[in-house]
Amino acid sequence: MEEARIISICSQKGGSGKSAITSWVANSLKREGKRVLVVDADGQRTIAKIRQREVEQGFELNQACDVIAADNVLEVLDEKFDDYDVIFIDLPRMTGADEAVLALSYCDIILVPVRLGDSDVISAFEFINAAKKMGEVRREKGLDFSLYGVQNFRKPNLRENRQIDEYAAMLGVTLFSNPLPDKADFMRAGTINIPSDFPSVADAYNPFFTEFKQRFQLP
Ligand SMILES: Nc1ncnc2c1ncn2[C@@H]1O[C@H](COP(=O)(O)OP(=O)(O)OP(=O)(O)O)[C@@H](O)[C@H]1O
Ligand SMILES: [Mg+2]
Repeated sequence: MEEARIISICSQKGGSGKSAITSWVANSLKREGKRVLVVDADGQRTIAKIRQREVEQGFELNQACDVIAADNVLEVLDEKFDDYDVIFIDLPRMTGADEAVLALSYCDIILVPVRLGDSDVISAFEFINAAKKMGEVRREKGLDFSLYGVQNFRKPNLRENRQIDEYAAMLGVTLFSNPLPDKADFMRAGTINIPSDFPSVADAYNPFFTEFKQRFQLP
């Protein structure tokens, strides 16, 4: 059997969609028959709390990814590595290069949600640089590493959207060709449903999810 892939959708920016996109993709893979775990390693426990509420509301869990809240990620990985095909780690936003290097050292796959109009371009640049350096170290050790960005909260017809490629080049990151639009219905997905369940966001989400599997070579 293949080894579990370890994925983090992470950035230096709060509220950029890290936890939301993690839940969407984790459950989409689960629906396709993969064994999927989300380790909620953010002290806010965003995913774990939403999941708890859904359980209390009587949602069915048989189609949903597993969720574990934990601070000691390495311990969980050690224990669960053989039981899953894909393990997502939901991390808090990372403010310094050291923090990023430590937290990301065990990830094969990193996806950075990028939002146009971020005021702190330098922090974004530093975060991506730290992640890429981590990747070089991993590759030297013969470990997998793949990093992309995805534009989240894309607004329609904004003149700024023409600048996204320039912005990505400045950050030194390759963006997915399928961005995620800013649409309130994305918030309906929670940690059990997926955007594909809602027609108003399915059309935008599905090509993103297909690209996610292709870029990161997930079966
Ligand atoms: N494309 C989108 N359109 C509309 N709402 C979105 C979109 N992406 C994420 N959201 C919503 O934005 C809010 C913030 O997202 P989320 O909690 O995933 O961010 P985060 O980066 O994990 O934040 P934190 O840094 O606090 O962990 C959530 O309510 C989420 O559902
Ligand atoms: Mg979060």
